[in-house]
Amino acid sequence: MLIPKLRSYKGVTPKIGENSYVDDSAILIGDITLSEDVSIWPLVAARGDVNTINIGARTNVQDGSILHVTRKSKNNPDGYPLIIGEDVTIGHLCMLHGCTLGNRILVGMGAIIMDGAIVQDDVFIGAGTLVPPNKILESGFLYVGNPMKKARPLKESESAFLKQSAINYTELKDDYLAELVNN
Ligand SMILES: CC(C)(COP(=O)(O)OP(=O)(O)OC[C@H]1O[C@@H](n2cnc3c(N)ncnc32)[C@H](O)[C@@H]1OP(=O)(O)O)[C@@H](O)C(=O)NCCC(=O)NCCS
Repeated sequence: MLIPKLRSYKGVTPKIGENSYVDDSAILIGDITLSEDVSIWPLVAARGDVNTINIGARTNVQDGSILHVTRKSKNNPDGYPLIIGEDVTIGHLCMLHGCTLGNRILVGMGAIIMDGAIVQDDVFIGAGTLVPPNKILESGFLYVGNPMKKARPLKESESAFLKQSAINYTELKDDYLAELVNN
């Protein structure tokens, strides 16, 4: 049985921006919007059912990552949508739940970011970091650890890499799109 990778929930189907790539083994459900040049790699699961998921241009979500949201309730009228900005790299096996990420961020492999957390622009999150609910991660810093700690300001090379990583993945995604045309 072929499981469709883009699935509706309550009549809302994921919207995929121009030149974006969603691997056939990924599953996207419900109110999800991908901007242009986004890439979603194998075995990603994203569920925009009880709230919305928005992903900005040139952002990549790598293999095995899980994206989810929190429903609206009396005490939390907006719930927690998941908002991810532009040129963001989400490494392998990350868990992003109802948080807000700005632009040019690298989320290291296996990191977990919980509800209401806000990651400002130009932040590097080390592999395996746990970001507890409602924390604010300041622009220009490296965060590591469980629970996360502000480790140090970013080196110039690391700041530059944030954008470069998104460029690398945008180019890789274009190769994969070309492969689809050729097959
Ligand atoms: C954090 C990171 C950027 C390295 O930063 P760094 O300052 O160069 O760190 P160093 O390698 O010099 O190590 C400094 C210390 O931090 C520790 N450390 C390194 N990475 C760590 C991490 N992710 N979490 C916790 N501690 C970490 C090291 O063990 C070392 O500890 P010690 O001083 O007690 O020996 C890197 O390890 C990392 O996590 N990169 C993410 C890569 C990734 O996931 N990319 C996405 C996939 S495409």
